[in-house]
Amino acid sequence: MIGLNQIYQEDCITFMDKLQEEKILVDVIVTSPPYNINKEYGTYKDNKGESQYLEWLKDVAKASQSILKNDGSFFLNIGCRPADPILPFLVAQKFEETGYVLQNTIHWIKSVSIDPEDIGRNNGSRSNENLSIGHFKPIISERYLSDLHEYVFHFTKTGNVKIDKLRAGVTYQDKSNIGRWKSATRDKRDRGNVWVISYPTIQEGRPHPAVFPVKLPQRCIELHGIKPNMLVYDPFMGIGNTALACIRLKVNYIGTEIDPQYIKTAQEQISGKIDLYLQGGEDELI
Ligand SMILES: C[S@@+](CC[C@H](N)C(=O)[O-])C[C@H]1O[C@@H](n2cnc3c(N)ncnc32)[C@H](O)[C@@H]1O
Repeated sequence: MIGLNQIYQEDCITFMDKLQEEKILVDVIVTSPPYNINKEYGTYKDNKGESQYLEWLKDVAKASQSILKNDGSFFLNIGCRPADPILPFLVAQKFEETGYVLQNTIHWIKSVSIDPEDIGRNNGSRSNENLSIGHFKPIISERYLSDLHEYVFHFTKTGNVKIDKLRAGVTYQDKSNIGRWKSATRDKRDRGNVWVISYPTIQEGRPHPAVFPVKLPQRCIELHGIKPNMLVYDPFMGIGNTALACIRLKVNYIGTEIDPQYIKTAQEQISGKIDLYLQGGEDELI
């Protein structure tokens, strides 16, 4: 019997077949698979041939179809190497081939610099310097710009799933907007599909080479909408950041991960035995 709020050391496709056998359906799948960029994971070898990689993720998508509720959401976070910028779109195409519809494309911005004239003085800027936010990771190349963003593809079965835009929204900067339009009844508006989320600073060491910040799966789940007894699944759970997001939101989760060491770290994070992140470290200067 599969229990909730646990991470299973198992291949995600095998596990999804078991979920189907047990007739367990999930509301949200939120995950970041390996990107096939030769990252040094503990157990997993991140260097498949491109077509093998694409077919594997197509199999993941196919297996997920039978465990995701009809009004569920699958949020797929994926990035790529600057030399292979088409890869995320090829993955998205594989998902569509299994019947998914790409309902939203979200741009996760890890670092951004804004010129003072674009910030505008009405927005509180009193500086003549540009504003830079997040962790800037330069790449040494004469051809490619430093890559500061990744995609979050929001797939649904119909392309017609109602989402909770205001729960994941922002307050109005100009409060006179409230009441000006019929839809603006309170101080909250749609955040849009550009999400600036910087990496929190890790206190010591790096227990995993490719994590996302807790805030990313958290916002995806909020965007889908929080419902009573909902269940979130992360097929590639890593060190448990999706589980932490679910705990923050008080929703049930299950996860799979093939690497026992990452599961151990996830369990230490979940139990509060370790706190990897420096509090307030998300505003690092660059
Ligand atoms: C990009 S990482 C996910 C990191 C996670 N989002 C976090 O923040 O910790 C991808 C993970 O997938 C795991 N993995 C690779 N193949 C798997 C499979 N077939 N089933 C389950 N997990 C797998 C890898 O060990 C790796 O930890």
